[in-house]
Amino acid sequence: MLNDKKILFSGMQATGNLTLGNYLGALKNWVTISDEYETFYSVVDMHSITVRQDPAELRKRARTLLTLYIAAGLDPEKNCIYYQSHVSGHAELAWILNCFTYMGELNRMTQFKDKAAKHADNINAGLFTYPVLMAADILLYQTDVVPVGVDQMQHLELTRDIAQRFNSIYGDVFTIPEAYIGKVGAKIMSLQDPSKKMSKSDENVNASIYLMDDPDTIIRKFKRAVTDSEACVRYSEEQPGIKNLLDIYCACTGKTPAEAEKEFEGKGYGDFKLAVGESVVGVLKPLQDRFHDLTKNKDYIDGVIKNNSEKANYFATKTLRKVQKKVGFPERIR
Ligand code: TRP
Repeated sequence: MLNDKKILFSGMQATGNLTLGNYLGALKNWVTISDEYETFYSVVDMHSITVRQDPAELRKRARTLLTLYIAAGLDPEKNCIYYQSHVSGHAELAWILNCFTYMGELNRMTQFKDKAAKHADNINAGLFTYPVLMAADILLYQTDVVPVGVDQMQHLELTRDIAQRFNSIYGDVFTIPEAYIGKVGAKIMSLQDPSKKMSKSDENVNASIYLMDDPDTIIRKFKRAVTDSEACVRYSEEQPGIKNLLDIYCACTGKTPAEAEKEFEGKGYGDFKLAVGESVVGVLKPLQDRFHDLTKNKDYIDGVIKNNSEKANYFATKTLRKVQKKVGFPERIR
């Protein structure tokens, strides 16, 4: 790399509408930590086709997601924001790594089991080898750290195993990536069932706040949020609905749970929910405004896509050539 910074890689899928959970749990955190690292933030569109997609819709969502990365505050001059499908090295490395991954390992992946159950009519090989593509994403950039949620930890562990296996045969080819530990993002739960994660695929639209929800919708959804009959705003496991709302409020205002508890002492849930809703509007409204401004500027976004895919390709090719040489592919004649 051009400097001494460690390398950070992460990606999101362009499927479904991004929720407040994705923002507070991941994207916001990406922005906070971006200065410390040389970063690659990918829109992992190749992962998306492991389940059927409408082509026009996928293309549109991919561009929306890439634009949202910027709207959320990632400077595309400093952060390599790009489409996975624009860097052919991902697929090429994934093929090679497939040959260093065991069926038994992939069989153990809980996400595969979940997704196979959910898409029983389309259990394709891509769904099965999805974690290998993810390993390629990470290893292609000699990544040091990967911010991921708990649901992706098993895939990251597999990535490390594959990298170590490859290195033990061919020498130090890959950096062994670590999960990003540090200030992790808030885990945001469904507004309708606080035992479930807020999800972009939830059938109940009132369960999730979408990043593009307008202020009235946001306030309305918070008014309907599930609470309890304790009638007291307390940060406790026994009040999961209230705890979730406090997590959201604190993530949006920067306050601590203790400060928030104090603020709402003696107040009813109605006032509290309204305040939470307003704090969310305060965060999402500026993000939406930036997003709409950016979408008007087609040339600018096109430029970002072009420049960053070149940058990503440059680093990806460096690793790929090394790997190809190690496994015995013939040299390129130039
Ligand atoms: N599998 C991740 C998810 O569904 C997305 C992803 C793909 C990813 N490649 C990655 C995350 C590499 C981190 C690093 O959330």
